[in-house]
Amino acid sequence: MTFKPVRKAVFPVAGLGTRFLPATKAIPKEMLTVGEKPLIQHVVEEARDAGIEEFIFVTSPSKETLKRHFDIIPELETVLEKRGKKELLAKLRPTNIAAGKLKTTYQNEPLGLGHAVWCAKELVGREPFAIILPDVVIATKTKSCLAQMVDAYNKVGGNMIALNEVPKSETNKYGIIAPGNIDKNIYEIKGMVEKPKPEKAPSNLSITGRYILQPEVFDYLDTFETGAGGEIQLTDAMAKLIGTQPFNGIVFEGKDYDCGSRLGFIEANIAYGLADPEISDDVRKILDKFR
Ligand code: G1P
Repeated sequence: MTFKPVRKAVFPVAGLGTRFLPATKAIPKEMLTVGEKPLIQHVVEEARDAGIEEFIFVTSPSKETLKRHFDIIPELETVLEKRGKKELLAKLRPTNIAAGKLKTTYQNEPLGLGHAVWCAKELVGREPFAIILPDVVIATKTKSCLAQMVDAYNKVGGNMIALNEVPKSETNKYGIIAPGNIDKNIYEIKGMVEKPKPEKAPSNLSITGRYILQPEVFDYLDTFETGAGGEIQLTDAMAKLIGTQPFNGIVFEGKDYDCGSRLGFIEANIAYGLADPEISDDVRKILDKFR
């Protein structure tokens, strides 16, 4: 079977970042750094690793910095070249997105994730697309999480989301799926519900901020129906696709960090520090001091 390739990725980055105030008063929360890179760069690189060619930011007018981070700045590169700073150039170049490949659209009201994705409808058009939530950073050993999903999608098509086991007591923080048959690490998805209480949750498998969806999801988002928390939920629109199209979930190789919470953000920075060969020994020594 062949399926239309996934060429575009949507990044919902319009949020006010209130959980990180005052740090996020003047800078977008997606510019906070985990390891050496801002959150937005982690997810753009993940998308690139998956072969994504077009990057769509659903953002707000006050968050121009996010786009600027991916501008090509010839004068900076010339200075680094003249000074022979090859390592710095190698770190800078992954932030370059070629002209016309980064598109932005605005979400003018905070109506929910489903609404944010709906705002990208015209830019996506009628083709499959990926969605990546920058709050979730995923460290993998080889291929990025989205790249693993694209590999699976190229075999089975349809819709694909990333799954992760969470403690049953925390199901009310996530979208939770009702699993069907499992084939290796791919679950058939029979249903999904946004932020259920533990006693109502159909499993402890959560939706982990990575999606490959068919454009028909926009037909459901068009209705602007609200769900959990009074918001337009992506999970509700996806749930309506089940039964009309194949819908699968992948248990990926990797460790996800919830950088939307202060604790998850600190954990991610410790993990990335420990994984950085330049500083890992010293990070370990520092951590030992706090034992
Ligand atoms: C969103 C989704 C939820 C998903 C979560 C992953 O929720 O609505 O289904 O499990 O991201 O982090 P949010 O964290 O934006 O409330």
